[in-house]
Amino acid sequence: MAFLARPSCTLLFILTLSVIVIYTTIRSHLNHPIAAAAMKNLYYRNAFLSSASKYTVAAYLRHLTLHPHLAGTPAAIHTALYVKAQFEAHGLETRFANYSTLLSYPKHSSLSAQFSNGTIIYLPLSEPNVPQNGVVMPYHAYSPSGTAYGKAVFLNYGREQDYRALSANGVDFNGYVGIVRRGCGLSRYEVVENAAAHGVAAVLMYTEGGTPSNNNNNDINNSFRWGVERGSVMKGFGDPLSPGWAGIETSEKLDPSDPQVSRRFPSIPSLPVAEAVADSILSSLEGPVVPYEWRESLNGRLRRVGPGPTMLNFEYEGEQKMATIHNVFAVIRGSEEPDRIVLLGNHRDAWTYGAVDPNSGTAALLDIARRYARLLRLGWNPRRTIVLCSWDAEEFGMIGSTEWVEQNLVNLGSKSVAYLNVDCAVQGPGFFASTTPQLDNLLVEVTKKVKDPDLDNIILYEQWRSVNKGINKIQRLSRVDSDFAPFLQHAGIPSIDLYYGSDFPVYHTAFDSFNWMTNFGDPSFQRHIAVTSVWGLLSLHLADDPVLPFNYRSYATELLEYKNVLNNLLEGRISLHPIDAAIQEFTAAANKTEEEAEKLRENENLDESSVLRKRMLNDRLMLAERGFLDSDGLQGSQWCKHLIYGPHSDTASKLEFFPGIIDAISQTTTLVKEERQAAIRLEIWRVARAIQRAACALKGELTCG
Ligand SMILES: *[C@@H]1O[C@H](CO)[C@@H](O)[C@H](O)[C@H]1NC(C)=O
Ligand SMILES: *[C@@H]1O[C@H](CO)[C@@H](O)[C@H](O)[C@H]1NC(C)=O
Repeated sequence: MAFLARPSCTLLFILTLSVIVIYTTIRSHLNHPIAAAAMKNLYYRNAFLSSASKYTVAAYLRHLTLHPHLAGTPAAIHTALYVKAQFEAHGLETRFANYSTLLSYPKHSSLSAQFSNGTIIYLPLSEPNVPQNGVVMPYHAYSPSGTAYGKAVFLNYGREQDYRALSANGVDFNGYVGIVRRGCGLSRYEVVENAAAHGVAAVLMYTEGGTPSNNNNNDINNSFRWGVERGSVMKGFGDPLSPGWAGIETSEKLDPSDPQVSRRFPSIPSLPVAEAVADSILSSLEGPVVPYEWRESLNGRLRRVGPGPTMLNFEYEGEQKMATIHNVFAVIRGSEEPDRIVLLGNHRDAWTYGAVDPNSGTAALLDIARRYARLLRLGWNPRRTIVLCSWDAEEFGMIGSTEWVEQNLVNLGSKSVAYLNVDCAVQGPGFFASTTPQLDNLLVEVTKKVKDPDLDNIILYEQWRSVNKGINKIQRLSRVDSDFAPFLQHAGIPSIDLYYGSDFPVYHTAFDSFNWMTNFGDPSFQRHIAVTSVWGLLSLHLADDPVLPFNYRSYATELLEYKNVLNNLLEGRISLHPIDAAIQEFTAAANKTEEEAEKLRENENLDESSVLRKRMLNDRLMLAERGFLDSDGLQGSQWCKHLIYGPHSDTASKLEFFPGIIDAISQTTTLVKEERQAAIRLEIWRVARAIQRAACALKGELTCG
């Protein structure tokens, strides 16, 4: 080619010069140990990203979902051994943590309806047309056994305001069989106990919306309407016989008749039913039409609430049994700071086949093991220790993770950098993430490195932004619906929860199978890959970055926003000065710490004092979250110690912060003004002190003034 055949002298000179400049830059970087380390980290992160494979994820998922594997059953042990064998096949060190816990199984159930024309029919309680080989019949774990015969009455979501609306219409529910649709954030326990408090004899629960957003096949929608949502009705989390301590084989166990145990179970029996079954009962009811406020969400259907004339004959018999559960771990030991731990967790037990819930996450976890093993072969040696955790018995009340956190509380509290949870990795389209706020920046940066699974040539970050109107909407972790809860809410460990898809129509039903995943959830397995990549990349940063990628400025901003929302809620009637002052202190600490962190991130020295300074700063970053814990915990659920994020019981409130204050506001409406204000003020002071403790930990000084 002419250009190369006769290059001009100037061009040659420039070319030579730039080659020399590039060469010397690279050399000087390679000679510089930190820069070399940073390049190595970048190299391993890229190697991780390029090792994604839909075939391996799909194969793991296929294997895990061959059989139903409810916790405590022989099939569940097979999945534990399978996960362990996969970890080992990748050359990783593995561990078991087994516990002996009280689980609950169904023995018999039946439901018949007698309509006003005299016809009696037995209503189907299981899903039709699915291979029921080993699928547990639909039930509510820990429901008491019992029978009820009475008129059917529709209770909407079973909230306090629903009972008020019914009473206002003159509807009686005493001794009747209540039908409740799931929703509005009430736990199953709350639904059943509310009903019991109003004299209802037994509860049938159904889930609306067997309409997968990504298909238009009406036959399939109709068959999902026959899906039944299994679930636990136990209150709180962890083994009921070892509340607060680990339920190992030889530990103290409470007697099942102990009130500490029995008060965690509802006092009346309940069963889940299919939407189609609920419909056949509801459409036969007479009495007042549903209150106006309920109609919109009933798709405009003018239902009548009863009671009756349809009579229901309800029977449920279950048994509680001691069962061994198995957590499985793979440990990748850190080379420089082996006593600093990054945890990745997913539960493995499922109500049925568990293709979405939870084994899409287990397949992702196993693929991370495979991809990390590849990095190890390339010479990777993580700075900190990484532990991959496969939990058991999450569905019964986060039992596997809770027992383990209780057993290891001191080590976890002093050594864990972060806990990264994935439960259902993929339930449909759309990326969702929740974090404690010091991890916001890291999450955003990582999503800029991962390809969007559904659109070509676009990064996940952009897609995530565009569906949320230009912001990367990060949720918070006040929920108690997966294994991050014990880590964050009991142990104060910074946490993340990731998933694809907002909900899915086969939740906890026998239709949650590999077939559903390949037909609807993630036919190309690209969403699995996206979650796996985000998850694995987050943990590579947390394990390898010399200065932890935490930024407490976003925590400070969040806290300020919470305070402002709270102030509006209280309409300025109660002073938030204590919280205000604490947030100022926290903000100052966050700014100062972040400045220090920025400097140390640039500090390329590897001398002992630089290394030690980083370690000291990292400890402050790691431990500040623990400051939000309060040893007395939340009133009414003392096990939850975190005063910023945790469950509150005001079902009308959408707020996901300061649970103690939210409860104090909603639960004191019957007190006189002074008492009410005192109760709220008490919670305000507790939160203020928690924020101060966190600020103190961030500053890392003994006396904070
Ligand atoms: C846990 O249970 C598994 C499966 O039964 C068993 O192989 C293993 O030895 C147990 N491990 C411990 C530490 O008890
Ligand atoms: C009685 O009513 C039920 C419910 O409306 C209906 O399914 C059934 O077919 C009726 N039976 C007769 C004999 O009309």
